[in-house]
Amino acid sequence: MNEKSVDTRWRMAYHLMPPTGWLNDPNGLCQFKGTYHVFHQYSPEWPTGRERGWGHFTSPDLVHWEHHGMAIHQDIPEDASGAYSGGALVERDAEGHDALLRLYYTGNVKEPGDYDYIHAGRQANEIEVTSEDGYTLSPKRVLLRNADYPDFLSCHVRDPKLWREDSAEGSYHMLLGARDLDDHGRLLLFDSHDGEKWTYRSCPTSMEPFGYMWECPDRVVLDGREYAGFSPQGLPDEEWRWQNESNCGYIELPEGVRLLDVDRLDQREFVEWDRGFDFYAPQTFVDESGRTILFGWMAVPDVDYESAPEGLSWIHCLTVPRELSRARDGRILQRPVAEVASLRKDTYGLDARGTTTLPRHRADVELAGITGDVRLTLDDALELVCEDGAAYLRFLDGAVGAGRTERRVRIDGVASLRALVDESAVEVYLNGGREVFSTRWFPRRDDLGVTLACDCASARAWTMRDVMANTYTR
Ligand code: FRU
Repeated sequence: MNEKSVDTRWRMAYHLMPPTGWLNDPNGLCQFKGTYHVFHQYSPEWPTGRERGWGHFTSPDLVHWEHHGMAIHQDIPEDASGAYSGGALVERDAEGHDALLRLYYTGNVKEPGDYDYIHAGRQANEIEVTSEDGYTLSPKRVLLRNADYPDFLSCHVRDPKLWREDSAEGSYHMLLGARDLDDHGRLLLFDSHDGEKWTYRSCPTSMEPFGYMWECPDRVVLDGREYAGFSPQGLPDEEWRWQNESNCGYIELPEGVRLLDVDRLDQREFVEWDRGFDFYAPQTFVDESGRTILFGWMAVPDVDYESAPEGLSWIHCLTVPRELSRARDGRILQRPVAEVASLRKDTYGLDARGTTTLPRHRADVELAGITGDVRLTLDDALELVCEDGAAYLRFLDGAVGAGRTERRVRIDGVASLRALVDESAVEVYLNGGREVFSTRWFPRRDDLGVTLACDCASARAWTMRDVMANTYTR
């Protein structure tokens, strides 16, 4: 499908990444007529071209993927500066079968002229396209424009998330992220009876200021409890939280409270999805088996570390799909979906007090029944240390980290650890996904050194199959 030659160095074997060019946020996540669809922000001509639209992956099983190139181009006046992020809504027929896929996104327009593009000069158009087969898209329909948003908002409004839920105002709901004129991040809600004509509902913000813009809002429901997810920009860096340039997390709503009825969110309840260097703009969906699944973008905007060192022709990837569940205290646990384990190949018993060498940087490392401190070191370059009530992800080799240094979180001991290593991507899950660290790294060796210092009941690793190899040669 994509004839261009691709860099082989550091290309992932099982994380979604572009053949060439730039990838950012996951978009339009859904399972439609049995097929998983993962759209994504895509600039195929990066680093030169400026096009920004939706690329498209599909899969029958969440592990084998096809890439279909660009699905939504910026080709109408209302999305002249980019087809930005958005979500999917699956319509069912009377028998409950999937009938229509509706995709909603923000058409970004930067008008030519001398503007600040915050208060003037920018259009945010909410646009819909539909599909009966998941591949062929209808003409675009513009549903909402700047004039439809409350006048206390700036021009920054984007990233629609859609869901169905009965209410007097209609059973369709759209959630957007926004920046108001006082530079506070907000959610923006609209209702509809048909998914096309929308009326303003509400514009909740936090109790105390909490960032100037909230991107990529989401609504998650687990065990009947609702969560508001969003990516606030402008939180100050602190020693133990908000360590990235931009951060993202969720707030659990009080029992019995719906997002539809909230006007203030308690920012003190904000929990970060991921503690690593490279995680932002996640999106969730519910699949046909009822699982809530999250994909995140494995990068952060505007950082001073590198994600395409040495002139790679592609940049960024998504996390593996993570299944979400609710712990008793309301914390969301994230675990790689069970399908990821089907990629495991050869098993290695790990030396818990020494180094085990695996043939290359494709591994699933699993430690269970840990007591006391843990130190897991990969290639003598990247370590994950849990000690004294904290966990640290730390680069020991500057070239491998490409500017990344250290990230940390307070933690009450670690009982289990799972690390997914995939060439230049690493995801570390602690305590069944209560804390996760995601990072890119750029290893210099051919083989993978796994050095452990811990006491644990079991320490194993598997090599992983390369399922991305055929993704671009359809
Ligand atoms: C988040 C984001 C979104 C926007 C998209 C543009 O990374 O800034 O708010 O829709 O990226 O690519």
